[in-house]
Amino acid sequence: MSYLEATNDLYKQAALTPDVGLCCTTNPVWQLPGLTIPTIMQEMNYGCGSTVSASDLVNNPKVLYVGVGGGMELLQFAYFSRQKGGVIGVDVVDEMLEASRRNFKIAEKENPWFNSNFVSLKKGSALDLPIENESIDVAAQNCLFNIFKAEDLKKAVKEMYRVLKPHGRLVMSDPVCEQPMNEVLRNDDRLRALCLSGSIPIKEYVKVLTDAGFGTIEIRARKSYRVLSPNHYPTDELIHIESIEIAAIKDPMPEDGPCVFTGKTAIYYGGEPYLDDKKGHILVQNQPLAVCDKTAAALAKVSEDIHISESSWHYDGGGCC
Ligand SMILES: C[S@@+](CC[C@H](N)C(=O)[O-])C[C@H]1O[C@@H](n2cnc3c(N)ncnc32)[C@H](O)[C@@H]1O
Repeated sequence: MSYLEATNDLYKQAALTPDVGLCCTTNPVWQLPGLTIPTIMQEMNYGCGSTVSASDLVNNPKVLYVGVGGGMELLQFAYFSRQKGGVIGVDVVDEMLEASRRNFKIAEKENPWFNSNFVSLKKGSALDLPIENESIDVAAQNCLFNIFKAEDLKKAVKEMYRVLKPHGRLVMSDPVCEQPMNEVLRNDDRLRALCLSGSIPIKEYVKVLTDAGFGTIEIRARKSYRVLSPNHYPTDELIHIESIEIAAIKDPMPEDGPCVFTGKTAIYYGGEPYLDDKKGHILVQNQPLAVCDKTAAALAKVSEDIHISESSWHYDGGGCC
């Protein structure tokens, strides 16, 4: 059985018998006026962060969500789009599609504004999306891509890039790991399917996105996720897994390389009212400016009177590339 088949099997079981501890997120359940998340959707929250952000959801975007789980995030996306077929959910596991369909019916009863037809469910794989080219404004996946091995991950990201409109956004949450993982862990299909042994370092994850052509990357959150310890897993050392929330925007690739925002800020504190680097960045004295890592490195060479902060791993918009 391939690791993809093992993954399908695991999520078939997770659809038939909801498993509250399968994935665990420290994210609080969304509280918005008029939004009630049915208990069963909370029990089937198999994600590791949030991909839903109001700032991505202006102008009635067409949303694609790959790997539907119990449907919780699709309901949250539908809260913003509120139109027939506004959210398309794709999953490869029939039982998961069926479970989420049932959950949307429950959500209809608990949310007067919601109609099940706001979500259109399709069977298909992240590796070969049943979606037209350049038809999507916001594409999302939560805790699925980390399961994929390197070549499949590239394929899945390429598929998302294909279906997004120009300037469309791919929003994701996934576990990442900065430590090396041994081959026993890497090749354990069940641990991989459980989102425990497939994760890669943030730099590699970002490279897969920029190699696919995404010109802007935003790392929006970074949190502690799990520890694999020798007394529970086949490892000689403790392995710390984190989770990130990340957006990849289908902007054209800048000539000098992608803009990757990791939450760095530049503050000019020299003697002039402002500093102009003549490359489009004006730093007003003692005012923080969010900058991408590329610009942070360039500004550090322009003047000694600029403070560049460490990455906060919490970028929430604004600033300069
Ligand atoms: C870890 S769960 C995450 C579910 C959901 N995103 C959430 O946050 O609760 C992974 C989901 O991806 C689905 N899945 C697994 N392999 C897939 C594939 N190749 N293509 C599309 N969906 C897949 C599973 O059925 C399951 O719904």
